[in-house]
Amino acid sequence: MAPILSVLSGFLSLAALPLTANAAPSPSAVANSTYDYIVVGSGPGGGPLAVNLAKAGYTVLLLEAGSDETKNVNVTFWPNFLLSGNDPATRWDFFVKHSDDEARESRYLRTTWRKKDGGFYVGLDPPAGAERLGIYYPRAGTLGGCAMHNACLTMNPNDYDWNLIAEETEDDTWKAENMRKYLIKLEKAHYNSTYAHGHDGWLDTTMLESGYNTSPDAKAMIQLAAQAAGFDVSQTSSVQQRDMNGNQPNRDNLLGPFGGVSHVTPDAQRSSPGFYVKQVVESGKYPLTLQLESLVTKVIFDKGRSPKAVGVEYLKGKSLYLADPRSNPSDKGIPGKAYARKEVIVSGGAFNTPQILMLSGIGPRDQLRKFNISVIANSPDVGQNLADNYETSILSQASRAVDDPGDFFPNFFKTSVGKIRDIYMWCGGFSFEGFWPGFPEDHGPKQYECALAHMNPRSQAGTVELRSAHPRDPPAINLNFFKDGADLDLQALYEGANSARSWLAKAPQTANSLAPFTEMHPCPGVIGKQNRTVESQKTYIKEQSYSHHATSSARIGDVLDSKFRVKGVRGLRVVDASAFPRVPGAFPVLPTMMISEKASEDVLADAKKWT
Ligand SMILES: Cc1cc2nc3c(=O)[nH]c(=O)nc-3n(C[C@H](O)[C@H](O)[C@H](O)COP(=O)(O)OP(=O)(O)OC[C@H]3O[C@@H](n4cnc5c(N)ncnc54)[C@H](O)[C@@H]3O)c2cc1C
Ligand SMILES: *[C@@H]1O[C@H](CO)[C@@H](O)[C@H](O)[C@H]1NC(C)=O
Ligand SMILES: *[C@@H]1O[C@H](CO)[C@@H](O)[C@H](O)[C@H]1NC(C)=O
Ligand SMILES: *[C@@H]1O[C@H](CO)[C@@H](O)[C@H](O)[C@H]1NC(C)=O
Ligand SMILES: *[C@@H]1O[C@H](CO)[C@@H](O)[C@H](O)[C@H]1NC(C)=O
Ligand SMILES: *[C@@H]1O[C@H](CO)[C@@H](O)[C@H](O)[C@H]1NC(C)=O
Repeated sequence: MAPILSVLSGFLSLAALPLTANAAPSPSAVANSTYDYIVVGSGPGGGPLAVNLAKAGYTVLLLEAGSDETKNVNVTFWPNFLLSGNDPATRWDFFVKHSDDEARESRYLRTTWRKKDGGFYVGLDPPAGAERLGIYYPRAGTLGGCAMHNACLTMNPNDYDWNLIAEETEDDTWKAENMRKYLIKLEKAHYNSTYAHGHDGWLDTTMLESGYNTSPDAKAMIQLAAQAAGFDVSQTSSVQQRDMNGNQPNRDNLLGPFGGVSHVTPDAQRSSPGFYVKQVVESGKYPLTLQLESLVTKVIFDKGRSPKAVGVEYLKGKSLYLADPRSNPSDKGIPGKAYARKEVIVSGGAFNTPQILMLSGIGPRDQLRKFNISVIANSPDVGQNLADNYETSILSQASRAVDDPGDFFPNFFKTSVGKIRDIYMWCGGFSFEGFWPGFPEDHGPKQYECALAHMNPRSQAGTVELRSAHPRDPPAINLNFFKDGADLDLQALYEGANSARSWLAKAPQTANSLAPFTEMHPCPGVIGKQNRTVESQKTYIKEQSYSHHATSSARIGDVLDSKFRVKGVRGLRVVDASAFPRVPGAFPVLPTMMISEKASEDVLADAKKWT
């Protein structure tokens, strides 16, 4: 492939398909063209990969269902993340189940309903005629994916998580020490650390500690958390500046407060694959074509003895996916096709990737047959093994207003049932009790919470299944929370909440202090004077926990090989959070970007195979 030609074709296709989100497609048809690679989805999985392939000189078409919100201040200014999470310009609204137990589902306090007037009702006492939608699960269908509305917490998973993939796949490139290479490649670290970091990558990372955790209340709470983890008060400042993405020996067991590394610039601008992709496209230097508002509906195969992915079909049009709150079922979109000489890479995220695979004939045979989809490869684990970090919180009311509600700090805890540290909590004057349209609920200026993310959940029995063969319909999702290992995971979550409670109880109760705290859940009452049983707390946690870090729905080991190739076909890979065999650490966005970098090498290593 001649690089000059590919650059030229990149220019030509850019000219034909301008980046601007609102550029109207020609009314009746879209040009059907051919590229070396097609990447579906511009999130943390697909975005960096598409750029890397183009930088290597190959022509790449990046298809993204959403539009360009890189100028939307909800998105760009990180402290607006709650606005961006609720912004209809980026939102894809999924409604999921946590189990098949109808009685348990009906007790979920933030159950969401569609009222007769079309609006949402959240709660357990819906108005007459309202339709139960289920448990709200946000995603971002926009250039850059969920990294455009997430909270930007950035954690390299525990070494154990990477090493387990290496062990199970017998592919040493997955070892933690090798994976760190991708972190260093992609990051532009703006903070000082004793450990080696990258400083010229595309993802800005900042440790919020120096700029944010300066309020006396935050300092006092960090001190208590540090003491609870066994540190002396005098060590608090150095403890709270520890680098959670450092290369410490035995880092999996380092506990207590850490610096909050985030994918933001030092002046609080969000950094993400969306901005990166856009900047590379606009530079005009590489043969990368970004086509927005294009919903991929299936992968096209050359059906020989061994099917080879040769392209995709898509629908061009704004807000076509019916999870988009702005969608209108009567807009049908304009059908188009694009062809790939080499490979198609699916990066639609943990809900959409299995949907795209199944619509293309790759999935559990019975399910495909049910919808008359002809089977290209029977792959029983597509849409299975969905897993997520369980999340809960200990929410309380302090005795007075918290002085800087924006000031929060991360804290690791190891429970009696964890092999390694198994709870990542972040504490501050906020309230986060899960997701529903319009989340979160403001409980006033005295609210104080430790939010908990459980790492290494023991159950991964979640499912993503087709609701219909219509590509615009969101799939049916059941996370099957606590199906396996419930006793141990509930014990871990309970101990996590109780650990925060134990140091909240120790807060000095002087005049004008935050303490005593009155807990709202999971154990209502004045902290230190509560009387709920452990069992009742676990029941609360089991029924009210939530999640937003879905992974593993097309995972390495069963659906994919260790190089992200979809088994049973050729020329097709999956590179996004679906690929993780298990939930990576407490926050999946950084690991997903890391595997995007890793997969780029794997794809390029095979580039000469295809003509
Ligand atoms: C509210 C919220 C807050 C979060 N906070 C954090 C956090 O602080 N830290 C953290 O580590 N993680 C966080 N996460 C999770 C993290 O953002 C995701 O795990 C990560 O973005 C997954 O990346 P992905 O590439 O797998 O998928 P996605 O980010 O979902 O990207 C998939 C992309 O594919 C596009 N797409 C899907 N289907 C199609 C199709 N058929 N055709 C064309 N395009 C398609 C989508 O529009 C999207 O742009 C949060 C998630 C949410 C929802
Ligand atoms: C920001 O998001 C809110 C919803 O959270 C929305 O109402 C508002 O219009 C958005 N603002 C911009 C500039 O898009
Ligand atoms: C990093 O350390 C240098 C040298 O001590 C100092 O000048 C700089 O301000 C520090 N940067 C940050 C972000 O703390
Ligand atoms: C592109 O492909 C679509 C879907 O097959 C088809 O409907 C359309 O006519 C094609 N467009 C052109 C310009 O060939
Ligand atoms: C599948 O095809 C059969 C036979 O044509 C038809 O009876 C059935 O309704 C189809 N099912 C779906 C879900 O389209
Ligand atoms: C438990 O505490 C609540 C107030 O927090 C009180 O109303 C209740 O009587 C107590 N129950 C018992 C058995 O002590």
